This record gives sequence, structure tokens and C-alpha cells, in this order.
Amino acid sequence: MTGKNLYIDPQRLPRHVAIIMDGNGRWAQRRGLRRVRGHAAGAESVRVVVRLARELGISYLTLYAFSEENWQRPAGEIRALMGLLVRYLRREIGELRKNGIALRTIGELGRLPPEVQEELARATAKNPPAPRIILTLALSYSGRHEIVRAIQTLAREVQAGRLTPEEIDQTLLQRQLYTNDLPDPDLLIRTSGEFRLSNFLLWQSAYTELYFTDTLWPDFREQEFLEAIADYQRRTRRFGLIQEQIAADSDGI
Ligand code: IPE
Ligand code: IPE
Ligand code: MG
Repeated sequence: MTGKNLYIDPQRLPRHVAIIMDGNGRWAQRRGLRRVRGHAAGAESVRVVVRLARELGISYLTLYAFSEENWQRPAGEIRALMGLLVRYLRREIGELRKNGIALRTIGELGRLPPEVQEELARATAKNPPAPRIILTLALSYSGRHEIVRAIQTLAREVQAGRLTPEEIDQTLLQRQLYTNDLPDPDLLIRTSGEFRLSNFLLWQSAYTELYFTDTLWPDFREQEFLEAIADYQRRTRRFGLIQEQIAADSDGI
């Protein structure tokens, strides 16, 4: 698959791509529009990126749509975001199912307005039986909160005498995360020129390749996505090993 001067190797696709979709407000403000118009334009980028991820054959796409910290934004903006989410779900669910895209969520869903929760439940109930791609929306999500929750669950197991502290390891902890059935992200993209994780997938991104771009989320479309994947494919992931070990491994030795 090629974009403008880009070659994407179908054999070396990231299995799981996570995206911090940032810059909607600035996109709107630069055009003299209200911030919410930027969120609406960003919803179109979501459609484009989901479609392309599926066409490329990426198995997991995780989108940071709303952080726990975002609850502190002005009430009007939060309302507009929740409204957009409901509209996105209503409009897209048929297409998602038809195209083999299963929807799931991570985050403190109980904090979302009831109509958003209902729409999410309706949408996820219609997931295709054998999906081609798992689309995960992070909503009211906080990476630190996710880890604290996991520790609380394990602490209760210890208190009940079902587990000893020594038995706690990375596997047990990761089983308690929202993402327990997802592989760690291979590639994490952040738009809008900010170089931070903003509390996204802190545990899971231990060895993730990070890609930062100045492009604002509403301008992030096919070409930008292909560029991020091409950049990923030029990297060598070492996971703490030395280059010779990596080369031997990929030779099948
Ligand atoms: C990202 O865009 C969307 C959400 C955080 C919900 P922003 O709304 O953060 O846009 P900027 O960063 O203010 O431009
Ligand atoms: C991160 O963006 C959260 C989402 C994209 C949903 P923010 O705009 O909230 O992050 P900060 O405040 O710039 O770190
Ligand atoms: Mg932002």
C-alpha cells in the first residue's frame, strides 16, 4: 500500500496503534470558530483513521477520546463532547458492524452521562462476531487510576487470603487492567505538537514506539496516518537487547 511517496510494508504493520487525538480546540480557534467545531471536525478524522486502519489490516486501534482530567473543562464543552459521542455512535454503528469493526471501551464509564452509557451498551452489543479490528475508545480514562484500581483488586484478594503478596507479578497486575484482553500498543501517536502522554496507557506503553506530529487532530487524515506508520517501520525495536540479538532473531536463529 502506498501513499504519496510512501511505502507501507504489510508484513511489518504495528498490531496495535494507540492515538492521543489532540488539538481540536486550537484547530477551531485558529479559524475563529468555537472549540466545539474543532471536536466536530475531529470526529471526521476518527472516521478516516478507523477506516484506513481496517483497510491496512491493523488489528487493534485505541483512541483517547476523553481523559478523567477532561472532566475539569467548562461544562458546556463537556456537554458538546458527550453529544458528539452519542451522535458518532448512532451514525457509525451500522457501518462499524458491516465493516467488521468491534467497539469496546476503557475508562470509568460510570462517570459518563446515562445516555452515553446506553448508546455505548447498544453499540457494543451489536459487535460483529468475528471482527477484523478492535476499536477501543478511552473514555473518562486515566492511566494512573487504572493501575490503582488493579492494585486495589489484588489487595482485596490478599486480604481474603486467596493470594500472597509474593504471588503478585506483572501478569497478575496486567490481568486487572481495563486492557487485559489487548496487546500492548506497538505505536502511539500524539497530534498537535505536545510531547507528553497525559495519563494515557502508562503501564501498557513501557516499550511502545512514540510518534509526535505538529498536525492538529482535525487535519490528521490518511496521509498523516500513513506517514506515522512508515516512520514506525523505519525503527528498530530492541526491548533491551543488543542489535546482534535482534538480527539473529529476525533470521529465525
Ligand atoms: C483533544 O483536543 C480532544 C479532547 C481532549 C477531548 P483539545 O480539546 O484538547 O484541543 P486543544 O489541545 O485545546 O487544541
Ligand atoms: C489528552 O489531551 C486527552 C485526550 C486527547 C482525550 P489533553 O488536551 O487533555 O492533554 P493536555 O491537557 O494538553 O496534557
Ligand atoms: Mg488538548
